[in-house]
Amino acid sequence: MNESKPFSTLEWIGDIDGYLKILDQTQLPGKLVYIDCQDEHQVWHAIKSLQVRGAPAIGIAAAYGVCLGLKALASPTEDSLFDRLEAVTAYLASSRPTAVNLFWALERMKRHAAACRGIMSHQQIRQALLEEARAIHEEDRAICRGIGDWGSTLLSDGMGILTHCNAGALATSELGTALAAIYTAVASGKRLSVFAAETRPLWQGARLTTWELSMHGIPVTLICDNMAAQVMREGKVQAVIVGADRIAANGDTANKIGTYGLAVLAKAHRIPFYVAAPSSTFDLSLPHGGLIPIEQRAAEEVTCPFGLPIAPKGVAAYNPAFDVTPAELITAIIYERGIISPVNEGTVRAAIEPLHRRKEAISSGEKPNPHR
Ligand code: MRU
Repeated sequence: MNESKPFSTLEWIGDIDGYLKILDQTQLPGKLVYIDCQDEHQVWHAIKSLQVRGAPAIGIAAAYGVCLGLKALASPTEDSLFDRLEAVTAYLASSRPTAVNLFWALERMKRHAAACRGIMSHQQIRQALLEEARAIHEEDRAICRGIGDWGSTLLSDGMGILTHCNAGALATSELGTALAAIYTAVASGKRLSVFAAETRPLWQGARLTTWELSMHGIPVTLICDNMAAQVMREGKVQAVIVGADRIAANGDTANKIGTYGLAVLAKAHRIPFYVAAPSSTFDLSLPHGGLIPIEQRAAEEVTCPFGLPIAPKGVAAYNPAFDVTPAELITAIIYERGIISPVNEGTVRAAIEPLHRRKEAISSGEKPNPHR
């Protein structure tokens, strides 16, 4: 990917009294509009309405949202700060239910605050929390690069790659997850034909993935969601690669609605199906994907997308925002430290548990052990 970024998905402006600048993705591809979030309510609304979206970006936005929520405290005592922290994190956690990165980031902020309690002043804790949010943001850049490096090893020159929704720079701090593999492969000289599925009902594939790939000079072909089988049968696709919102301990993966169908089609056509996600997207507390909460969204998103009525007034519509792809349909999961394959509880836990333990220890204030 071009190092001079053509856009910034989210950015903290200023010091502890600063604000969060978010690229409003509901306006893309027509308008490049940024919104300045000055309080936690604006961040909650930005997440809920998909102005900021994609699992890692939601987590980063929520972490900064905590900093905003601690700005205007009536009494600057330690107790009031921690009461407010509880309230703000619970509030931000209510914005969207499926992407575990949201809850992961909020827990990390709370753990870090707890480690500072009793040894720092109120202002110092706020400063430490801003630094923690910045660390979550910065680490995500490195994670995207790691996923890009590992993911690109699975993509060969001349391949056709199908992706769904948007798991790119718009969904993360920078390179993305699924798209990071594509950006990295292309940067290393591989020629890929990328197909983006439009991703009804909110068209993240059509509006966002085609936009960001084009911004980075990568040719992309848009297909309607219902064309995937035909494109596979025509031999145009040699790999499917998607992101994830939550991965259970056995590898079952929640991602944008339509992902499961693509995995079934990929199996029928003997095409590898790859998931790319950071370790923060794994929820090892859930034994299987049936336990992942699936966000249900308004019927109007289906019947009247972006204000255009496409169905008779009053018709019922069902609108789950995500589905779960069973682990047995996933050829491999790419994460920042490697590739998990085959995908099952043993391989997932072996790869992810040590990483989770290490990150939890660091955010609780323990010094990192360079030998682990
Ligand atoms: O509803 P969205 O647009 O937030 O859904 C996003 C996805 O499903 C992405 O594929 C996922 O969050 C991974 S982003 C790196």
